[in-house]
Amino acid sequence: MEVKVVAEDIAQIDADAIVVGIFEGEEETGGSVAAVDSILEGAVSALVARGEIRGKFGETGIVHTLGKLPANIVAIAGLGKPQDFSLDRVRGVTGEFCRYLRKLNCHRVATTLHGAGVGKITSAASAGAITEGSLLGLYSFQKYKKAEYADIEELLIAGGKTGKLASLEQSVRKGRIIAEAASLARDMVNEPSNHMTPGMMAGIARDISERNGLKCKVFDLKEIESLEMGALLGVARGSNEPPKLIKLEYRGDEESDSAMGFVGKGITFDSGGISIKPSENMGDMKGDMAGGAAVMAAMEAIARLKPRVNVTAIIPATENLPSGTAFKPGDILRAMNGKTIEVISTDAEGRLILADALSYAVKEGLSPLVDMATLTGACCVALGTGYSGAFASDQGIMNKFLQAADKTGEDFWQMPLPERYREMNKSQIADIKNTGNRYGGAITAALFLSEFVGETPWIHLDIAGTASSDKESGYAVKGATGVGVRTLVELALSLAKEK
Ligand code: BES
Ligand code: MN
Ligand code: ZN
Repeated sequence: MEVKVVAEDIAQIDADAIVVGIFEGEEETGGSVAAVDSILEGAVSALVARGEIRGKFGETGIVHTLGKLPANIVAIAGLGKPQDFSLDRVRGVTGEFCRYLRKLNCHRVATTLHGAGVGKITSAASAGAITEGSLLGLYSFQKYKKAEYADIEELLIAGGKTGKLASLEQSVRKGRIIAEAASLARDMVNEPSNHMTPGMMAGIARDISERNGLKCKVFDLKEIESLEMGALLGVARGSNEPPKLIKLEYRGDEESDSAMGFVGKGITFDSGGISIKPSENMGDMKGDMAGGAAVMAAMEAIARLKPRVNVTAIIPATENLPSGTAFKPGDILRAMNGKTIEVISTDAEGRLILADALSYAVKEGLSPLVDMATLTGACCVALGTGYSGAFASDQGIMNKFLQAADKTGEDFWQMPLPERYREMNKSQIADIKNTGNRYGGAITAALFLSEFVGETPWIHLDIAGTASSDKESGYAVKGATGVGVRTLVELALSLAKEK
């Protein structure tokens, strides 16, 4: 779908549908709504007065114009209560009305700049949010099944004659880059594990690097052995698919030789291994590489946006399967940093592969470090599916991350990293064991990872509950959400030097 900024007045645009927004509880309609309403001789205000259109967040009402306007349909998008309004609601409302109009077979849609001027929302920010909300809300994974509805081909944003068109266009461009990256992550996570193998992840990393001039290095089994990544190798032993350690480098600041590091869990299928999972919903574990996908996709957006900062991404990728060669509970593995790990459960494999990837990132001098992983069911139990867990060894970088998340509308909730819980990971016979006790599982997993980052400022993001969605809502659709991509990109932009 194309997203374009136009200077025309919304009422004059020739489209299948034009979209105006109303707030819940708003009695007087103003601006574009009033203009359209008067041409339609009060049809919109009558529906509002009757309570047929209530402005509830995400609800879309329609009026047929019957030749009174160039457009066939006026869609009235519910913006919700004014006091609850936010930039993220612009994304959500846009996702909802776009899907609604796609079902009505609309191919060319025009919209006003929802929320521009409300609170601190600028028209440029609104244009960016509309772009993200539409592209993400209309996303569907079509590789194995034809889409149910035809695409909306064009979304026109009525920018008015404000002289701000150039800044709106800049926002649309950035919104598109970010939404395309989140969509790439969704595609990777939705792809089943018989296709999305560690080798295929590496192939996609090479494609990203070729498209955008990034440096890419894929370490194969032999090289992973030379790096002495015993924890990653332990997990990989059960599978016939060879593991990969993927490295992507973006250099936006030639004056500096330091770089920040993004590390993402790339388990392309998590059966649990010998500590095998119950069969119900095991197929969802094709998405256990969502952290790795988010990191790779974020690198593509960063490469396209070109902030003045250096970022290196590391993705350890492997399957976790049971077999005659699989690693077993009771085994002891030696991670790249020399620490020995007693395996209590082969299903706590994410922290094992991240142990080596983080050790490697530290050795490369990457700082600060941000890792993202579908790490623990315990994190979903703690926070539900609406918040990702965030853990930090350094509050400064955490605050910057949370500020970035506030801009993107991705909900992260900071969790504690208490020293006194560290003893739960103590092993009798090795430096550490790979599970804690019954309680606080997301925290003990984070504390486990902290053993491999040394003094480097680090944050860990547990996206086990948020990486996929079982319902369509706002700009989320069923299946992979692409969570984390947009906030990683925003973090990199916020840490960049001014050009
Ligand atoms: N990949 C899972 C975590 C997960 C659970 C992700 C649900 C998405 C949805 C992880 O590898 C895992 O199996 N964790 C175990 C850890 C336990 C054995 C300590 C868990 O959460 O049960
Ligand atoms: Mn597991
Ligand atoms: Zn896992």
